[in-house]
Amino acid sequence: MTSILITGGAGFIGSHTALVLLEAGHSLVVLDNFANSSPESLRRLLELAGPDAEARLTVATGDIRIRDDLERAFAAAPAGQPIEAVIHFAGLKAVGESVQHPLRYWDVNLGGSRQLLAAMQAQGCRTLVFSSSATLYGMPEQVPIPETAPIRPINPYGHSKAAVEQLLDDLSASEAGWRIARLRYFNPVGAHPSGRIGEDPRGIPNNLFPFVSQVAVGRRERLQVFGGDWPTADGSGVRDYIHVMDLAEGHRAALDTLLSEEPQLLTLNLGSGQGHSVLEVVAAFASASGCPVPYELVARRPGDAASSVADPALAAQRLGCRTRRGLAEMCRDGWAWQSANPNGYGTANPLEGGG
Ligand code: NAD
Ligand code: UD1
Repeated sequence: MTSILITGGAGFIGSHTALVLLEAGHSLVVLDNFANSSPESLRRLLELAGPDAEARLTVATGDIRIRDDLERAFAAAPAGQPIEAVIHFAGLKAVGESVQHPLRYWDVNLGGSRQLLAAMQAQGCRTLVFSSSATLYGMPEQVPIPETAPIRPINPYGHSKAAVEQLLDDLSASEAGWRIARLRYFNPVGAHPSGRIGEDPRGIPNNLFPFVSQVAVGRRERLQVFGGDWPTADGSGVRDYIHVMDLAEGHRAALDTLLSEEPQLLTLNLGSGQGHSVLEVVAAFASASGCPVPYELVARRPGDAASSVADPALAAQRLGCRTRRGLAEMCRDGWAWQSANPNGYGTANPLEGGG
């Protein structure tokens, strides 16, 4: 059993990863300020993890930018089991908002990470898994994209992630003993197959999957497909969608790798290596849900690339695992979540059993 601090553990990817780690027998402290999540996700993942899990999850409400909150989180670990590793999800992730409020993004994403790393150093904890993003690759010249592709972010969100990656480079060069994995996620989607936990965006979703599921459930009238004239097979944009449970399992594998090998700085893509177009996603979701997904073709969205697909070979080799779930399962599980919780965690479907 390892004692792990998870920042942002109540969020979309954090909650699914917390469940996988509880199921693997680890002990967790979740530090979250619930800026973009609900404590309900933690209550539900405990339900899924089974009766013995409650004693292994501690929730520390707080902010990664505040030193006292970080100290409280480290101190919340069970007696005799100090935090051995941190998985750092907490951050802001909306590209459009980052263009309007760059200071916020530099403050939370870079400032918060800096504060967290200082706390880790003070506590003698030197094992970290960091949520990075394929957004670092900007407009990729080469698809599938290897980890060696140039880092050229094109918005403040991407710049803040690139800055944290640089900080982690500098830190691991400064002092032996750091075990760090920078995981560059492609497009995480779907939900736990139970439909009890999932993605709960606030307001109008920016991303394709949550938008499509809200159209299928009748919360929005139609999808706008951003561009039908891309140089792709059907003219719509191509992305590498990864099931959030595959992503969660990738975190467990990354942690196992860091803890079992010599100290190192690992940089890995987490994607499936399979590209799917917007129109393929629309068709797959309509088929999984049995609901129509009306759409209209509109102009391209500024800043979009035609195609972004991971080269997943290095992650498969270093972590010894590959993604297992395809587009049909992403849609099936996303639909299980959306149909049972049409308004996210806010108001669960009253007809549904349980909480
Ligand atoms: P999310 O918003 O669902 O989760 C982030 C969590 O961090 C939330 O629970 C939020 O309340 C918390 N948080 C935010 N600011 C905080 C602060 N100052 N102190 C403490 N907690 C704070 O997002 P997610 O999709 O789960 O993403 C997790 C991480 O993965 C983020 O760092 C994001 O940038 C990165 N990422 C996400 C995607 C994606 O498509 N979802 C893609 C690439 C990278
Ligand atoms: C976006 C961000 C990226 C971030 C990622 C996860 C941009 C340019 N990129 O990636 O930095 O890491 O989210 O948060 O914002 N689409 C539609 N209609 C919609 C929504 C999307 O057609 O209403 C299309 C897009 O043009 C794209 C595909 O669907 O081809 C996927 O879009 P999205 O889910 O927003 O993800 P990315 O653009 O890949």
